[in-house]
Amino acid sequence: MAKIGVFVGTVYGNALAVAEEAQQILGRQGHEVKVFEDATLAQWQEYRQQVVLVITSTTGQGKLPDNIRPLYAELNDKLGHQSDLRYGMIVLGDRSYDTFCGGGRAFDELLQEQGAKRIGDILLIDAIEVVEPEAFSQDWIEHWGALL
Ligand SMILES: Cc1cc2nc3c(=O)[nH]c(=O)nc-3n(C[C@H](O)[C@H](O)[C@H](O)COP(=O)(O)O)c2cc1C
Repeated sequence: MAKIGVFVGTVYGNALAVAEEAQQILGRQGHEVKVFEDATLAQWQEYRQQVVLVITSTTGQGKLPDNIRPLYAELNDKLGHQSDLRYGMIVLGDRSYDTFCGGGRAFDELLQEQGAKRIGDILLIDAIEVVEPEAFSQDWIEHWGALL
């Protein structure tokens, strides 16, 4: 079973609701799960040889929310390779924006550049179609947890 850090970027709480759902589901599968809002680089580094699940919405014009942007900047500025890291990515957005899910896609690109290994596909959640993102993401999370 894996030790998983769930790193959340949210403005209005939808991504946090998905993270809380993920904590329940992955915990039931026997994984050890902690959820981080306003995470520091040190908290991220505790998982550098483990697993992280990034769950973030998109704000502004394709930007990451304020509570996760500093972490992204530190990963970009201070870390080079993260080749021992395995991760998953859930991104919330709204297809009416040109920059659909831009924040999370940028986060994914950074982790790819740094050599981290993504487990599974990115889950993109469109607020236009999905009213309850926490219910919508349940099957993806179950499947992702089983791949670890
Ligand atoms: C002011 C504002 C700006 C947004 N900008 C984007 C955007 O650029 N791209 C996108 O895909 N979604 C955008 N969204 C949609 C949100 O990402 C989406 O509603 C998401 O579910 C919010 O999740 P949260 O409650 O975790 O912040 C924006 C929403 C608001 C209110």
